[in-house]
Amino acid sequence: MSEFQEAAGLQPQQSVTQHFSRPSSTKWQGRMCPGAFSEEPDMLLNKLSFSWFLRLQRLWSHYWTIWRSDGMEGVLWRAKNILVSIWVRFWMRFAGLNRCGRIATRLAVWGAPPYRARRYFASLYPHGYVAPSATIYHTDVRLGEHVFIGDRVVFFQAAHGGRVELGDRVSVFGDVIFETGQGGSITIGAGSRVHRGCNLIAYLAPIQIGCDVGMAQNCTFHSYNHGIAPGEPISQQPLQTKGPIVIDDHAWLGIGVIVLSGVRIGKGAVIGAGAVVTNDIPDGAIAVGSPAYSWRRSAAS
Ligand SMILES: CC(C)(COP(=O)(O)OP(=O)(O)OC[C@H]1O[C@@H](n2cnc3c(N)ncnc32)[C@H](O)[C@@H]1OP(=O)(O)O)[C@@H](O)C(=O)NCCC(=O)NCCS
Repeated sequence: MSEFQEAAGLQPQQSVTQHFSRPSSTKWQGRMCPGAFSEEPDMLLNKLSFSWFLRLQRLWSHYWTIWRSDGMEGVLWRAKNILVSIWVRFWMRFAGLNRCGRIATRLAVWGAPPYRARRYFASLYPHGYVAPSATIYHTDVRLGEHVFIGDRVVFFQAAHGGRVELGDRVSVFGDVIFETGQGGSITIGAGSRVHRGCNLIAYLAPIQIGCDVGMAQNCTFHSYNHGIAPGEPISQQPLQTKGPIVIDDHAWLGIGVIVLSGVRIGKGAVIGAGAVVTNDIPDGAIAVGSPAYSWRRSAAS
């Protein structure tokens, strides 16, 4: 066991453990719909060939228009995009957090555009998308449906770290760290966006983020402090907390916002770029500065 794993209180085999909800596909249920094939087989065949004829006709006129406006280059570019999209769809069907799923994801991203352009991968299947370069060194990660986990995102569990739970359609755009330890946990509600470079570090107290919350690049959330009593080295003092961090639904945090422990940011509040939030911010407020102060009320309040 490495020194790193020992510090985290984890066994090596625990490093990538999956708690993946995989509800049955709605598409499959649609195919099971009673009466779907109640028509006479001949009539059905006629309808099918007619619909194929219409599709081919539409495809032909589509490509003819591209040919006339962009020439052969345009047609080849479109054709390449279609092939890439078929390739992605095929491999994403098998994507997941087990070994085979990771290989399938690696194949899916081959030749695909980078970074946010891969967000649509997560919309293809309920099991979502976890980038091949993401690391899950955590035994209690719960992902909702259509969750997007971008490049180099790290889930890290230190000793006694609690759960990390991301709701449906949460997007995490890359280089983000989710870390829990000493009973801390992280919850993010459906539809929230965590942009590149954010850090969510929960020790002693939870970090609870609501639904449809926007967190711009490099936001940082720490639900704990180091003890700072005079006369003792800080590295030897126990961690302390003023309580959980709570961000209510529809809030928006600008670039580089820092949120300290024991703070609640109200529903629909806006926090300006670079603010350090040390006190509660009311619903619908716009707050800026360090320490952040409510500077005016938004129309939503
Ligand atoms: C907070 C914010 C939304 C306010 O926007 P706004 O209503 O257009 O505000 P204004 O630009 O008119 O600025 C009004 C005043 O607030 C000050 N101010 C604005 N943003 C500030 C900030 N982040 N920190 C400190 N002061 C700020 C301005 O200097 C100005 O002060 P003044 O009246 O003394 O000149 C905006 O400034 C901001 O910080 N946006 C975040 C951008 C971001 O992170 N984008 C990422 C997208 S994901």
